[in-house]
Amino acid sequence: MTDQAPAPQSDIPGDIARDFPWKPTSASRTTLSHIMTHNDTNLLGTVHGGVIMKLVDDAAGAVAGRHSGGPAVTASMDEMAFLEPVRVGDLVHVKAQVNWTGRTSMEVGVRVLAERWNESAPATQVGSAYLVFTAVDADGKPRLVPAVVPETERDERRYQEAQIRRTHRLARRRAIRELRESRAAEGYED
Ligand SMILES: CC(C)(COP(=O)(O)OP(=O)(O)OC[C@H]1O[C@@H](n2cnc3c(N)ncnc32)[C@H](O)[C@@H]1OP(=O)(O)O)[C@@H](O)C(=O)NCCC(=O)NCCS
Repeated sequence: MTDQAPAPQSDIPGDIARDFPWKPTSASRTTLSHIMTHNDTNLLGTVHGGVIMKLVDDAAGAVAGRHSGGPAVTASMDEMAFLEPVRVGDLVHVKAQVNWTGRTSMEVGVRVLAERWNESAPATQVGSAYLVFTAVDADGKPRLVPAVVPETERDERRYQEAQIRRTHRLARRRAIRELRESRAAEGYED
């Protein structure tokens, strides 16, 4: 890992390749596949949401580690959507890629697909999620990540949408911090 700062995001995909470390989206894109068994069910008999979330975190973590070239921790997970129930005997594919990079963080987008393990019918999408990973050094401190360079129109759309989510995450955090500070200043204890 170099100490160079990644390219300003507004320049992507312009001059980035010349001056800054970068990687294309495809360099770290990953699929994790797993057959669901009776160990994975909830009380209703379908697959527990937490089982899917663990697979999502595992796949996204692999992608973040590959892209950043070292350890990366989950900073947040948002917009985890469960679109269809997953059943015992489903072969689940968790597809993850880096959608966007900041200085030390990456947004990883994940799609969850399921197909019957022993049938040739096409897989259907059963979930999706967006996670932010922060690359860390040996002391657990954030470290710089290479810029991700979108390669296809779909990658570019995902990059732009990730920037919108990033703006909203930061605005929400700031607004909540300000509210708490103003309540504390008014004497509220919680
Ligand atoms: C994530 C973590 C490394 C951030 O450390 P920090 O000292 O707060 O670092 P910063 O505030 O400088 O943030 C570093 C980057 O992470 C991003 N980030 C931090 N917290 C975030 C959050 N809650 N949501 C989204 N992004 C976040 C920042 O925006 C920043 O990105 P940028 O450099 O691309 O602009 C730290 O909070 C941590 O170690 N958390 C625990 C992670 C963990 O254990 N995960 C597994 C959970 S079981």
